[in-house]
Amino acid sequence: MAVVPTEPVSIVIFGGSGDLSKRKLVPALYELHLEGHLAPATLIVAYARTGESDETYRAEMKAAVAEFARIKPLDEEKWAAFESRLFFFRGDLTVPKHLADLKTRIETLEKERNAPGNRLFYLAIPPSAISPVVKNLGDAGFVYPVDGGPWSRLIVEKPFGRDLKSAQTLNEEISQVFRERQTFRIDHYLGKETTQNILVFRLGNGIFEPLWNGRYVDHVQITVAESIGVEGRGRFYEEAGILRDIIQNHVLQLLCLVAMEPPVAFEPNAVRDEKVKVLKAVRPQTPAEILMDTVRGQYGPGAVDGKPVPGYRSEMNVHPMSLRETYAAWKVHVENWRWAGVPFYLRAGKRMAKRVTEIAITFKTPPIAMFRRAGVTQQAPNVLVLRIQPDEGIFLTFGAKVPGAVSKIDPVTMDFRYSQYFGGSQPEAYERLLLDAIHGNSTLFARRDEVEAAWELVTPLLETWRENPPSDHPNYEAGTWGPEAAVALMARDGRRWRRP
Ligand SMILES: NC(=O)c1ccc[n+]([C@@H]2O[C@H](COP(=O)([O-])OP(=O)(O)OC[C@H]3O[C@@H](n4cnc5c(N)ncnc54)[C@H](OP(=O)(O)O)[C@@H]3O)[C@@H](O)[C@H]2O)c1
Repeated sequence: MAVVPTEPVSIVIFGGSGDLSKRKLVPALYELHLEGHLAPATLIVAYARTGESDETYRAEMKAAVAEFARIKPLDEEKWAAFESRLFFFRGDLTVPKHLADLKTRIETLEKERNAPGNRLFYLAIPPSAISPVVKNLGDAGFVYPVDGGPWSRLIVEKPFGRDLKSAQTLNEEISQVFRERQTFRIDHYLGKETTQNILVFRLGNGIFEPLWNGRYVDHVQITVAESIGVEGRGRFYEEAGILRDIIQNHVLQLLCLVAMEPPVAFEPNAVRDEKVKVLKAVRPQTPAEILMDTVRGQYGPGAVDGKPVPGYRSEMNVHPMSLRETYAAWKVHVENWRWAGVPFYLRAGKRMAKRVTEIAITFKTPPIAMFRRAGVTQQAPNVLVLRIQPDEGIFLTFGAKVPGAVSKIDPVTMDFRYSQYFGGSQPEAYERLLLDAIHGNSTLFARRDEVEAAWELVTPLLETWRENPPSDHPNYEAGTWGPEAAVALMARDGRRWRRP
């Protein structure tokens, strides 16, 4: 199918010299360019305090794209065409004059290209810098009114706030300058092909949705496990912890997609209305319940892939007696008609045995042990696994008779793997999300009430944990599946965590 380029837009990356820009944003824009999505007059202007000129920035990004882009090797001719859209502007976000100068530069570049003046601002900057830059953008006259004429949109990275109050304040500050439909709160998990496939799988097929409820489902496990540690982000982790870093956004987003009702249309507000309803249906927990239904962990030294790795407390910029969590598990009840009585077990961890993100839906076992007289007293439940990463795919386990005279049932797996079926590399999440933002489609971005509803759930955990500091950290060895207490959380319910 022929690609129709987007409207011309000036993409302004605040934080253009940072890690995210190098590893994700510029490579994603390069891919979009290669695939013909960007209109000829589309510009990319990177903004930061450190950097010299367009030429040095282009050279730096060329190396980054060669390393991080999905499509390899770098094609010199195509790169030359791409870099003619790429500019660097040195300035400080907190200095209004610099933003006014940036505006003049962009206007000149747009005039040269006969571009209409649409602007997409990407905030790839530390969270503390968001409020001042949004205000300064407004004051510098960068933001157009929403109706008619050229448009301006804002993409804000996670973390979006650090608790309910700060998220509300941030939303309020942004809303002084950008309207909700101009605001795109990014959670890159939503841009992953496999995450998008959750709804396609559920709602684009006739046979699964009738089973997708408490009548047939025993419980759901959502796992976001990383084998890496904090990778030089010790300072950030000391402030954040995994509850804020992964559970509040990625894990709750996955919960919403699994648990939500079918939207009336696949359209931004209809989808997000249903997601918010899931968050609103999660049963609030008292501090005593929180302490019962959550587990915190922190990794000690251990080994990952056979190599020794240090404990969290020995990571750079981490306090030697830190109590910050690098693992969290949480039993959640979605109290609505569909899910009453079905627990959702959420967990995320760093330095786990394996890198894997998956949703596992465990179905109820048959009402009677039909084959007990033949010696089969226990049958493994059917499990449907939606694997988000790596080895993206969908797996369904069921019992099959082992051939032979002896009656034996073994669990076997039917599997679908993206790589085998569709081949090639999947588009990166940032490609899809940048493209959607340029098109003005916010379906895969979090709405204000959605972010606040997620914080409303997580904030009581943060408070209860703060008031009840852990006494056992570090409590799991790097390279394992987390603390014993998490095993006990499941065992209490007669269940076990999966070992993906
Ligand atoms: N890296 C990732 O993979 C990743 C993933 C998800 C979310 N995020 C989020 O994305 C944001 C950026 O992350 P990052 O890892 O790219 O951080 P980073 O490497 O520390 O980059 C921060 C950027 O902000 C710029 N900046 C900071 N203060 C500034 C100021 N006063 N004026 C102008 N520029 C300023 C820095 O440039 P100068 O110092 O040169 O000015 C740099 O370009 C953060 O909110 C992070 O949580 C990152």
